[in-house]
Amino acid sequence: MAIPEEVISEIKYKNDIEQVISQYSVLKRRGKNLVGLCPFHSEKTPSFTVYPENGSFYCFGCGVGGDVITFTGLIENLDYIESIKLLAERSNIQLPQDGYDNTFQKVKNTVYDINRESAKFFHSYLMSDAGKWALDYYQSRGLSLKTIKHFGLGAAPDSWDALINHLKGKGFSISDMVTANVVGVSQGGSYYDRFRKRAMFPIINIRGNIVGFSGRAMPGDDKQGGKYVNTSDTPVYKKSENLFGINFAKNFCSEQIILVEGNMDVISLHQAGFENVVAPLGTAFTSEQANLIARYTKEIVLMLDADAAGQKAIKRAEEILRNTGLTVRVVSIPNGKDPDEFIKTQGPERFKALLEGAVSNMDYKLLMAAKGLDLTNEDGRLKYLNIAAEIIATTDDVMARDIYIGRLCEKYGVSRTALTAKVDELRKKNIREVKKAEINAVIHPKFSKDDLNPEKRNSPKGTAAEETVISLLLQHPDFYDIVSEKLTPDKMVTGLNRRIYELICETLNGGGMLDISVFAQKLLPAEVGYLVTLQNADKGGNVPKTVLNDCIKVILEENERLSRQNPAEASNEDWAAQLQSIIDKKK
Ligand code: UTP
Ligand code: MN
Repeated sequence: MAIPEEVISEIKYKNDIEQVISQYSVLKRRGKNLVGLCPFHSEKTPSFTVYPENGSFYCFGCGVGGDVITFTGLIENLDYIESIKLLAERSNIQLPQDGYDNTFQKVKNTVYDINRESAKFFHSYLMSDAGKWALDYYQSRGLSLKTIKHFGLGAAPDSWDALINHLKGKGFSISDMVTANVVGVSQGGSYYDRFRKRAMFPIINIRGNIVGFSGRAMPGDDKQGGKYVNTSDTPVYKKSENLFGINFAKNFCSEQIILVEGNMDVISLHQAGFENVVAPLGTAFTSEQANLIARYTKEIVLMLDADAAGQKAIKRAEEILRNTGLTVRVVSIPNGKDPDEFIKTQGPERFKALLEGAVSNMDYKLLMAAKGLDLTNEDGRLKYLNIAAEIIATTDDVMARDIYIGRLCEKYGVSRTALTAKVDELRKKNIREVKKAEINAVIHPKFSKDDLNPEKRNSPKGTAAEETVISLLLQHPDFYDIVSEKLTPDKMVTGLNRRIYELICETLNGGGMLDISVFAQKLLPAEVGYLVTLQNADKGGNVPKTVLNDCIKVILEENERLSRQNPAEASNEDWAAQLQSIIDKKK
């Protein structure tokens, strides 16, 4: 698993952090550092900082940080080894054949291979005489041959072992087929093709790898296993993190991404010329999916079913999308159709009109608020106007408020002064709450910088000392001898810093270098960010050794104070020792 240090250094040297990050964010020089808008969260003023001097970055807004390898991993959604491979490839560095490839990566590669081979198998079956039933099905749904090829669609034969035999012939082991989830194991322990007599849709990730399949039963068949059977989570696929169609949509979404419910909706819209469409695969919309979308576009159009389940899904999606910075619009398709039916019966022009008229979120909410209320009587109207006022009060745009207030007054015969007064009153209340939320957001931003080390509040002084020690060690690893002599990891007062210090000791004891990459494999992105701030902090001044010794003293004292405070947690022996030391001090 260990990649040689020299290789990592070479990769970092040849992939200049400034150049790599510039591909994703516009950076401006500020002193010896560079700043720009953070590519990992939405912001209007730059808080993302690159430190070319030591090849690291840190976002003061959301707390992520690391080096060029962690950056690549975060932005391209890759794990550590994959990021190294990508950077090595980009800079023509030959990675040693052995020694870097971990077993998990090998498993992943095999699963990718099996998926690719299975997709080929399903596609050629579809195109063969035997697969005519499936081709008829796709054509009955209006798909052209070009679309079928574009999406790599296929079909699974009506057989329990056709795919097993095919993959065996290609040299894959049955257990790898099970890992890839194209093959299932019965209770009796026999193996079978999971997809039988189904239209097969390959699921492709942003990097163009086939990560799984979605198989649709034929109409009229008994839908054993459901209308759709999907790949379960595998080493290369997590359904909560993938979106059907994202591999295409990511290139066509400068304006917006449209979120629909089903695979067939994505494909039909695509065929009609709308390529910026994605669908979650048999899951409720998740925050991982929201973040994926937020990386590629600014606006999301929710085009979910108009039924009760769809309404619930919209509400949920809105909540999830609130923190992504994406503009959200909602389009409901008339007459309860799904986008696939709509585009087929009404054509692309009508669809475009529908999309452009995409009611603003406000319109939509006002429309929905009326549901279930009887607007023919005064009581119902009053209830509605109160809800509507709350909805209007949520926008900061004074013109927009005026327009909506005007519309409602005209429609329901209330005075403008009354409704305006109501909305203003609600706004004052909202503003108070927003202020509170903003303050909270600073305290608990998205990557929750400050939740990072919750134990800090038990000992702010001890934590500060720990941070100084870590910072000085990162900058002067040669101080390690002085530190390690006096400070063992168990003495650290906060769990986070204890873990970090343990890693430092482990690395330096093993003769390694304190490189951010070492930590990136073991810590969360926000924790790595925290380390980058420490790496770039100036804590020692002119007398780093003195500062270091003072800090170690503070840590040891704080440690003792805390353990005195929590005798219940200490063992009897510790407790006796502590008691003794208290007595000794009093003397
Ligand atoms: P729908 O039932 O609306 O299917 O489910 P659809 O996309 O309109 O399919 P067609 O038009 O009848 O062929 C919407 C999505 O929910 C997931 C699938 O991803 C589907 O596209 N789903 C549905 C499942 O995962 N399993 C199921 O059993 C049903
Ligand atoms: Mn449908």
